[in-house]
Amino acid sequence: MPVGNDLNAAIRLLTRGELVAIPTETVYGLAANALNDAAVVKIFEAKKRPRFNPLIVHVADWAQARAYISGVPPLAEKLAQAFWPGPLTLLLPKNHLIPDLVTAGSPYVALRAPRHPLAQELLRALPFPRAAPSANPFGYISPTTAAHVQAQLGDTVLYILNGGPAEVGLESTIVGFDEQGTILYRLGGLGVDELEGVAGPVRDGRQTEGKPQASGMLKSHYAPKTSLWLDNSPADHPEKAGALRFREYLPGIPREWQRLLSPKGDLTEAARNLFIYLHELDQLGLDAILAERVPGHGLGLAINDRLERAQAIFKTH
Ligand code: TXA
Ligand code: MG
Repeated sequence: MPVGNDLNAAIRLLTRGELVAIPTETVYGLAANALNDAAVVKIFEAKKRPRFNPLIVHVADWAQARAYISGVPPLAEKLAQAFWPGPLTLLLPKNHLIPDLVTAGSPYVALRAPRHPLAQELLRALPFPRAAPSANPFGYISPTTAAHVQAQLGDTVLYILNGGPAEVGLESTIVGFDEQGTILYRLGGLGVDELEGVAGPVRDGRQTEGKPQASGMLKSHYAPKTSLWLDNSPADHPEKAGALRFREYLPGIPREWQRLLSPKGDLTEAARNLFIYLHELDQLGLDAILAERVPGHGLGLAINDRLERAQAIFKTH
């Protein structure tokens, strides 16, 4: 199945109701016409994603978003103006144009305007919004390069639009709204500090028990196939263990089995490298990946969140 930067091919396929993998600044998305039930079903099938798990919908900008919602929480427009296009997804009351299949029956739709130039161009060329979850099989690490998509979903997607490695490298931050203000549902590519700079204090809506609001909130998600151990003592690791570190190598483990997220200690760089390195380490046939937490501020919160969910201890599949 072809990989390239032929925008017209992507337009043609999406218009026909087919799936196309697309680059965004966060992670690659698996796109389909959000207004076409038959096309949307193909996404669930390709990802092996349960139907009760709703899909993010991409729009070009706030004006397009307005066409698909039935009300505007006061803070939503302010956040869209501040952070769109960008790594922020807003949960908003949907109108009748958005199929129930897309939202898994919820009256709320998750909308995002991605800022990757190819993602934008494609949206502006299409007369419909596109459903676009991350282009990975359900539960596995999100793809941040076209090669990741090819390795994971190469058999099911007809075209992969190659936009280079993702600039942010973490999925979007997801927020919703109630009478009291803004609620955080998923940590992601927009830091909470930046978010609060515009929205004011944000409440934590992330759940650890019961029914999660977003599948990214499941305890085991974004997981590599190799067992990942977070903050484990190196003394009790298996012989062929690799390491995912922040700035410095772990003594006693060959360097070719290790990756440094950011030797200079830059969390933006660490976020960009996280999934690339997890994919790489997962290809090495290691018995374990020993990971360490990064500093818990800014994007570090989202990085640590993904590392926690990637842990072997929560793995159920
Ligand atoms: O960065 C991103 O947001 C990427 C790029 C491709 O846009 N997409 C992405 O989609 O991460 P996905 O489907 O892998 O994760 C979207 C999360 C899921 O956990 C889903 O449950 C939640 O958003 N979600 C989507 N629509 C929702 C809705 N209507 N209500 C509640 N949660 C929703
Ligand atoms: Mg995903």
